[in-house]
Amino acid sequence: MKILIINGPNLNMLGIREPSHYGRETYSSLCGRIEAYCAERGIEAELYQSNHEGALVDRIQQAYFDGVDGIVINPGAYTHTSIALRDALSAVSIPAVEIHISAVETREAFRQISYIRDICIKTITGHGTDGYLEAIDCLVAVLEGKSES
Ligand code: DQA
Repeated sequence: MKILIINGPNLNMLGIREPSHYGRETYSSLCGRIEAYCAERGIEAELYQSNHEGALVDRIQQAYFDGVDGIVINPGAYTHTSIALRDALSAVSIPAVEIHISAVETREAFRQISYIRDICIKTITGHGTDGYLEAIDCLVAVLEGKSES
């Protein structure tokens, strides 16, 4: 099973940016944890981060041609603005789980909108960086047919 973990803008700044919202774990530590978690479970995981909307669209499209089975995505601020990312996910029809480190539902009004939520299997919010591991579990359960959503 091959999964892609995509992170949008400013998530490379984890550990530095607003620890009260995003905690103290760095992006590189998180990547290491995700890689180890997937390796232990025999899951092939690829991680991708970009600050650029078009690059994220390109990577989602590439996932189709690479035969990726599932996507975990934290689009960062593009969650709240990007029809292009939504269209890319719809175009490839690869099952996806949305994850946010912070509890977006308790934050500013503009963070209440997600352009991808309704096309994702599930959304995880507010569980810190551990939420990525939860998102992987959820995605894998669905891909293995152990869960409806
Ligand atoms: C975020 C929440 C977004 O509103 C914000 O723009 C981010 C991170 C999160 O993981 O909590 O960059 O997606």
